[in-house]
Amino acid sequence: MNKKRIVSGIRPTGDIHIGNYFGALANWVQLQDQYDCHYFIADWHALTTGYMDTTQLKENIEHLMADYLACGLDVERCNIFLQSHVKEHAELHLLLSMMTPLSWLERCPTYKAQLEALSEKEITTYGFLGYPCLMAADVILYKAEFVPVGEDQLPHLELAREMVRRLHALYETQIFPEPQALLTKAKILPGTDGRKMSKSYNNTISLGEEPEAVRKKVMNMKTDPARIRKDDPGHPDICTVFAYQKLFNTVEKVEEVEQACKAGKIGCVQCKRALHEKVAEWHTPIYDKRTDLLTHHRPYLRDLLEKGSVKARSIASTTMQEVLQAMHIDY
Ligand code: TRP
Ligand code: SF4
Repeated sequence: MNKKRIVSGIRPTGDIHIGNYFGALANWVQLQDQYDCHYFIADWHALTTGYMDTTQLKENIEHLMADYLACGLDVERCNIFLQSHVKEHAELHLLLSMMTPLSWLERCPTYKAQLEALSEKEITTYGFLGYPCLMAADVILYKAEFVPVGEDQLPHLELAREMVRRLHALYETQIFPEPQALLTKAKILPGTDGRKMSKSYNNTISLGEEPEAVRKKVMNMKTDPARIRKDDPGHPDICTVFAYQKLFNTVEKVEEVEQACKAGKIGCVQCKRALHEKVAEWHTPIYDKRTDLLTHHRPYLRDLLEKGSVKARSIASTTMQEVLQAMHIDY
C-alpha cells in the first residue's frame, strides 16, 4: 500500500453540528479511499479546556463515534481510534515538551486567542499551553504526511513541523515527514439566527437534533429584514437562508433562487420550505443512523473504537521505539 497517510481528530466536546460536518467530516469521508486515513477522538485534548468537569466525556466519546459512523466513516476503509487508549501519545508528548521552547508555545496565536475567549475558565495551565506538543505527537506518531484541518489549526501544524526539525537536528536523525495541512475549504456558515455559529447561542443544527427541531430552526431562520411582502425585492447576500441554500444546491439552482428573490418572485416562507426539504434529506438519514447506534449498539461502538486503538498502538509503538533509539534512551 503506497497511499499517503493522513491523521486528524476532533475533540469530543458535544454533538457534531452542521458546521463541523461541512467543515471537516464530509471531507474526511471523501479522503477515505485516496489516502491511508487515521481518524481519532481527541479526548485528552478535550481535557485541556474541560478538565474541571469530566462527567460528560464518556458519553461525548460514544456520541462522536456514532457521529463518525453515521456520517460515512467506514472502519473497512479508515482506522478510527481513541487517543487516550494509545498511551504513546502521552509518551511522545512528554518528550516533545522537553525540547520545545516556551516562547514557541507562548507566541502561538491560538493560545493567546483562546485564553481571552475562555477567560472565565481557569486554563492558564501547563497542559493548555502544551496543546501544540500533544497535537504534534498525535500526527507524527503515525508519520502522517497530511493533516486535514481548517485554517484555525495552521499555527499548530507549523509548530509541529518546527518540533520535527528540532528533534531531527538535536539527535541527528530523520524519522518523521514534516506534516502538511490539507486545508478544508472553509465555507463559513452562519448560525441559524445569523450570528456566528456557536453551541452556546443554540443556533447550530446538530446531527443529534430531533427532525422537528431542525424544521423549526430552518423555518425561523433570519431572512432579509427589509422584506415584508412577498413582492418586495430581496437581498440574498445578507440572508441566512440564502447562505444555507448555497450549501445544499447546485450553482444553477442557487442562481435561480437569487434571481427570484431579487425580483420579489418568491416568498421567504416558500424559500425556507424548499431549503428545509434539502436540509432534511441530508440530516434525517444521519440522525436515524446515529440514533440507532446510540440506542441499540453501544457495545459495538466501543468495540470498534477498541479494535481501532489496537491497530493504532501497533504503529505508534514502532515509532516510539525509533524515537527512543534516536535519543539514546532505549534502555
Ligand atoms: N486541535 C484540533 C481542533 O481543535 C483537534 C486535534 C487534536 C487534531 N489533535 C489533532 C486535529 C491532530 C488534527 C490532527 O480541531
Ligand atoms: Fe432569503 Fe429566500 Fe427570503 Fe430571499 S426569498 S430573503 S433568499 S429567504
